[in-house]
This record gives sequence, C-alpha cells and structure tokens, in this order.
Amino acid sequence: MKDTLISVRNRALRTVYKWILKPILFQFDAELIHDSFIKIGQTIGKSVITRKISSFFCNYKESSLEQNIASLNFVNPLGLAAGFDYEGRLTETMPEIGFGFETIGTITNYPYGGNIKPRLGRLPKSRSLLVNKGFKNLGIHKTLENLVGKKFKIPVGLSIGVTNTSSLSNQKEAILDIVNAFKVAENYKIPFSYYELNISCPNLQTSVEFYSATNLEELLSAVTKNKLSKPLFIKMPIDKTDTEVLEMLEVILKYGVTGVIFGNLQKNKQDPTLDPKEVALFSKGNFSGKPTEKRSNELISLTYKTCGGKIIIIGCGGVFNADDAYKKIKLGASLVQLITGMIFEGPQVISDINLGLVKLLKKDSYKNISEAIGKD
Ligand SMILES: Cc1cc2nc3c(=O)[nH]c(=O)nc-3n(C[C@H](O)[C@H](O)[C@H](O)COP(=O)(O)O)c2cc1C
Repeated sequence: MKDTLISVRNRALRTVYKWILKPILFQFDAELIHDSFIKIGQTIGKSVITRKISSFFCNYKESSLEQNIASLNFVNPLGLAAGFDYEGRLTETMPEIGFGFETIGTITNYPYGGNIKPRLGRLPKSRSLLVNKGFKNLGIHKTLENLVGKKFKIPVGLSIGVTNTSSLSNQKEAILDIVNAFKVAENYKIPFSYYELNISCPNLQTSVEFYSATNLEELLSAVTKNKLSKPLFIKMPIDKTDTEVLEMLEVILKYGVTGVIFGNLQKNKQDPTLDPKEVALFSKGNFSGKPTEKRSNELISLTYKTCGGKIIIIGCGGVFNADDAYKKIKLGASLVQLITGMIFEGPQVISDINLGLVKLLKKDSYKNISEAIGKD
C-alpha cells in the first residue's frame, strides 16, 4: 500500500517536472540554474517545515535498502556525486530528497574561480552534461569554515583534489598541495564520514597526473602517511585501459584504501552515445551521464572480479533509473552515485530509483540490497 502511494506521488511529480519545470529550466543558462537551485535548496534545508514538506514529497525509506559499509550506516545505496554541492550548502536538504549519502566538493587547498565559461552545458539527446568547471571552489579553509558546527543526518564525504593552477608544475608540489588540504580537513573536526581523493578531473591546467603506478604510489604514500581519521575512496578515471586500471588498483590495495569510485567524466568526444551536433556546440570540457555508463560498468565488473572483497566499489556514471543502479550493484558496486540523472529526470528520481530497487530485490528474492552485490 505504502509503495503504491509513493509510486503515484512520484508519477505526479515526474509529470510536473517533465512537462512543466524542465522545459522552462532548460531555456536558461545551465550554470545559472544550478546556482539558483543551490540557493533554493539551501533555503529549504534551513527550516524544519520546508524540510518536512520536501520529505513528504520526495523521501522513501525501506529497510531492505539499509547497509553498513566501512562502519557507516547507509539508509539506502544512492548518493549525490561530487560536483553538485561544491560548498556543502545542501547537507540538510539532500537527506529529505531521499539520498542515502552525499559528497561535497571537489575542494582544493587554494580557491579557484573556475575555467572560462561555458562551464556547464546540456546535451539532451546524448543525455549528458558538458562539465568544464575545473574545481571552481572557495578553497578548503573557507569551505570548511562555513560548515563548522554542522551535524549530518546521512554520511557526508569530502572530495579533495589538486589546486587548479599551472604554478604547481611538478609532482612533488602537487602532492604537497593535496596533503596540505587533507591536513586542514583533519584539523577542522567537521563530522564527515569519508574522504574522496579525486585524481581524475579532466579539466585542470596542471600537467601532473596520478595515473601511472609510480605517481599514484607517491601520492598515496604521502596522503596516508599520517593515518586518516576517515575511510578513503579514490575517484577513478574511466578513460584508462583495463591494464592501467589493474596497475592502479594494485597500488590502491597496498595503501589500505577503503574503496574506489568508477568513475569520473567521459573525455572521448567520439563516444558513440554522444550526439556529434551537440558535442560541436562546446569547444572545451568533458561529459557526464549516459556517455560514462558503459565504461563505468566495465570497470566496476573488472574491479569486482579482481579485487572483490578487498575493496568497496561505488558505481557512478549514467544512472537514470532503478535498472541502471541495480546493474551497477549486480556488477559489484556496494553503493551508487549520480548527478546527471537527477537533472534530466527531476528530484523525485531518487525515491523512484529506491522504490524500483526494492521491487527488483523482491523479484530476485533478496532480503537486503547487500545480497545483490556482484551477483552478475
Ligand atoms: C556539474 C558537474 C560537476 C562535476 N564536478 C565534479 C567534481 O568536482 N569532482 C568529481 O569528483 N566529479 C565531478 N563530476 C563528475 C561526477 O561526480 C560523476 O562522476 C559524473 O558526472 C558521472 O555521474 P553522472 O552520470 O551521474 O553525472 C561532476 C559532474 C557534473 C555533472
């Protein structure tokens, strides 16, 4: 009965979003809409009444979706990926929308004003977003200062990357920059549940890369030198070969990293899921959404087959519905993250996916989502 009512509620919201809100919102500049939504979302989060209203319209809870992973409790496996709530303004609102966890950032040691516009664009036919922000952020001090005193209802993680500046010209400087950001995060005592180390942003000025086993080893040895107080996840690229990824995983396992996230944006403009006419509208940037899905799934599967049980996998890329999320879970992901699906489908997609997952679990006779992990 409860699920039928939620299903009817979601269908109504989906219709309003698809036929009224989205056609209006998609007329305006994507970055302007994103910034406006952050402001609205932050306002909603400030009052108990607006939080309760959001929860009434969007939330959905079911015990078969609950898991304990890395000693953290997740009410459901669906998280907001890094890049939507850069400054942690939505930490009160996202649990009411129905997310089981969220990542703030990516934040860097020093602030960065963002790459030259357009930094965000829509590719509706490709079901993708053009992203060229390049870690636009306030810097770690300012960001964390704004979060002092906050308590989080769901696990909230902090994504850290290298400062986007050409002045960090070599590997040592880049590593020091990242290590310093981790030190600041550890000192602030904000109740983050985990860290993400983003080594895979394709929109940076620096020529330093951490993809080779040697470079990654140097980075991880420095970051983990002083034991971190929270689990560490590495945000992985999706444009590397299987062999390269396996070499990276070998290093990652050596340093006791809790998990990996597959993965970041699609760099390949020739990817068959991208509409060439839409791609031609943008000279710089990389792509989210459906163009990331296939390779994300392949790498989840590869990692589960080779390192399953030794490392936690978070699946990210192209999740628009419950089938997409379930596929990642059955390939080996314990948790799933998204951004683009929410922008194209509307905020009710979170409870839609969770509701759909419950149905899929029942169909496969699983009592809890954890039983489905890696079953394909
Ligand atoms: C607007 C936008 C900004 C992003 N910024 C970041 C970022 O700062 N750090 C990061 O690790 N990933 C970032 N990403 C990548 C997403 O976290 C995610 O890996 C990718 O979009 C694939 O997921 P999706 O298809 O559900 O959007 C960004 C994505 C989008 C759409």
